[in-house]
Amino acid sequence: MHINTILEERKAVIDTALRYFLPDETEYPSSIHRALHYSVFAGGKRIRPILALLTAELFSPDWEKVIPPACAMELIHTYSLIHDDLPAMDNDDYRRGRLTSHKVFGEALAVLAGDALLTLAFEILAGVKEKYNGYASSYWNDVTAEVKLKIIFEIAEAAGVNGMIGGQVVDLESEGKSITAETLDYIERHKTGALITASVRLGALISGAGRQDLSRLTKYADLLGSAFQIVDDLLDIEGDEEKMGKAKGMDAKNRKPTCVSLYGLDGAKKRREELYNLALKELDDFGDKADVLRELTRFILYRDY
Ligand code: IPE
Ligand code: IPE
Ligand code: MG
Ligand code: MG
Ligand code: MG
Repeated sequence: MHINTILEERKAVIDTALRYFLPDETEYPSSIHRALHYSVFAGGKRIRPILALLTAELFSPDWEKVIPPACAMELIHTYSLIHDDLPAMDNDDYRRGRLTSHKVFGEALAVLAGDALLTLAFEILAGVKEKYNGYASSYWNDVTAEVKLKIIFEIAEAAGVNGMIGGQVVDLESEGKSITAETLDYIERHKTGALITASVRLGALISGAGRQDLSRLTKYADLLGSAFQIVDDLLDIEGDEEKMGKAKGMDAKNRKPTCVSLYGLDGAKKRREELYNLALKELDDFGDKADVLRELTRFILYRDY
């Protein structure tokens, strides 16, 4: 099956589940619920949940169990984007082909929408609420409390100061400065890599991957995460705004040190290629059954949006 078909199919699965997990738009107070729907259903690529699903499929055909935590990752990612776009951070006007949340709903509601998505993610992960006892979450009931707790811990860590938040802080504090390769590596691995790695690991953990496989997949995801950000930095210069649904040239405008500002366009592309090959190496031992993940890796690292 072609990777685009797989992406579409899995995206549809995730979108259906997200509609189930998100409170209705008309619920009181409707302004915040409209803000949540506005950003979540704006058409993101759903890369993190899809990575979780496809990783789980390496070990078990039972990938439905991964839907609730995969949705949680997408909600946390969407929250990070809403806050990332705020005037106090990157000050962006467009995201996922629409005006940014704060442009439409105002800054206060955009801050609260981000907070609400982060909190909802953990509500879904805890999974005890009566209303989550149907559809997608019923699969979550099959996961042992021990595995759930481990996953919740890992997701919290990946979203927090030792993960995405830490990366965002160093990213912001590096604006207008020249930084070392080490600092750039920290930014890439934390602001973007942490959520990617957590997505891959949760898929593996739910499907009962052994220690060695988990360790290989963690290395794979770590390489993929850094490369993911390099591609984002390349697209900020070479991408098509219409296709990406966000403005380009923002990194230069915000004087962000990126892989491109450090190594040049060719240097950044070379680094992407290196990371791509290293990431693929980590999948070698999985044989043919990792072919879909290999194709997804290629899609992610050579995407044009
Ligand atoms: C953009 O992420 C922000 C980064 C972490 C680089 P995506 O490129 O996955 O954005 P969506 O979810 O498809 O909108
Ligand atoms: C975003 O990095 C990382 C996040 C944690 C959201 P960027 O600031 O480069 O992402 P875009 O370019 O705004 O999507
Ligand atoms: Mg940013
Ligand atoms: Mg940004
Ligand atoms: Mg960017």
